[in-house]
Amino acid sequence: MNYKSIRRSLLYVPGNSEKMITKSLGLIADSIILDLEDAVSLTEKNLARANVKNSIAKFKEKNKEVIVRINDIKTKTGILDLESIVEELPNAIIVPKADEESLHIADILLKSTEKRYDIEDFEISIIPLLETSYSIVHAYNILTSSDRISAVQFGAEDLTKELGIKRTNEGKEIEYARNVIAQAGNACKIDILDTPYTDIDDNDGLSKDILNAKNIGFTGKTCIHPSQIEIVNDIFTPKLEDVENARQLIHSFDEAVKNGKGVCMFEGKMIDNPIADRARKLVEKADQISSL
Ligand code: COA
Ligand code: MG
Repeated sequence: MNYKSIRRSLLYVPGNSEKMITKSLGLIADSIILDLEDAVSLTEKNLARANVKNSIAKFKEKNKEVIVRINDIKTKTGILDLESIVEELPNAIIVPKADEESLHIADILLKSTEKRYDIEDFEISIIPLLETSYSIVHAYNILTSSDRISAVQFGAEDLTKELGIKRTNEGKEIEYARNVIAQAGNACKIDILDTPYTDIDDNDGLSKDILNAKNIGFTGKTCIHPSQIEIVNDIFTPKLEDVENARQLIHSFDEAVKNGKGVCMFEGKMIDNPIADRARKLVEKADQISSL
C-alpha cells in the first residue's frame, strides 16, 4: 500500500468548498477525505471534481494522506468522478454503498487508469463504505473482493435510513452492524473506520461514541468538523502510562521466556503470549504515532 500514516482521524471535506479544502490543509486530521458524494449537490459535481483534482497535489506536498469519496461507481457520476481525479494519485478512493460488484468495477477501473497513466507502481487503495443491510450481512465477502482494500468505513446514516429506524446519539441501533464490521475488518487485517458523529456541538456524546467503537475494535473515526479531530486523535492515541506499563510487562515476560518459562506474573496477573503480544501491539502503535 502507498500510505504509511496511521488513520485515527479522517476529516470529510465537501469537494465543492474551496475554502474548506484550503482550511483542511492546515488541520491535524491524519487523513483528509475530499467528498464528491453526499456533501455535494448535483449542480456542483463538476465544480467539486475540478476543486478536488486541483488540490490533491497540495495534500501530497504536505505528506498528508488524501482520500477521495466518489459517487456510486455503478453510475455515470461515479465513473466520471474516478476518471477525473485518478491521475492526481489520491492515496485511496472511498467506494460508497459498497458490494462485491462495485468493488470489482472500482478495481478494474483503477487498474486500467493506472496503466493508462503509467502509475502502476503506486496502487491507489480502496476503502469500501458499508452502509446497506446487504453489506453488513456480506461484510467479509465484500472486504475480500479486491486485494487493494486498505480499510473499511461504516456509514450509519444510510444504514438506519434504509432500515427505517431512528438514529440516536447513543447508537444502540448500530451496535450489531459495528460489531460485524469490526470482526470482518479485523479478519482482513485492515483499518476499521467508524461513521461520523453528526452532532457537532456535543463533544461529550462524541467521546462516548468514539469509545463505543474503539472498545469493540474500531481503529479510527471519520469526522465532519475540525472541532472533532483532536478528540478523536486523543482517544485513539495510547496513553503514556499504558505504554510505559506495556513496556514493563513485555520486559518481565521476555525475561521469563529467556529463563525457559511460558508464563509469568506481572502486577498480580498472569501474563502469557497473547497478553504480551497485545502489549507489543500497543507499544508499536504508540511508536508509530510518535514518529508522525
Ligand atoms: N473541513 C474543513 N473546514 C471546515 C469543515 C470541514 N469539514 N467544517 C467546517 N470547517 C471550517 C469552516 O469553514 C469554518 O472556517 P473559518 O473559521 O475559517 O470560517 C470553521 O471550520 C468553523 O466552522 P463552523 O462555522 O463551525 O461550521 P460551518 O457552519 O461552516 O459548517 C458543516 C458546518 C456541518 C456544514 C461543515 O462542518 C461541513 O460541511 N462538514 C462536512 C460535511 C460532509 O462532508 N458530509 C459528508 C460526509 S458524512
Ligand atoms: Mg452514504
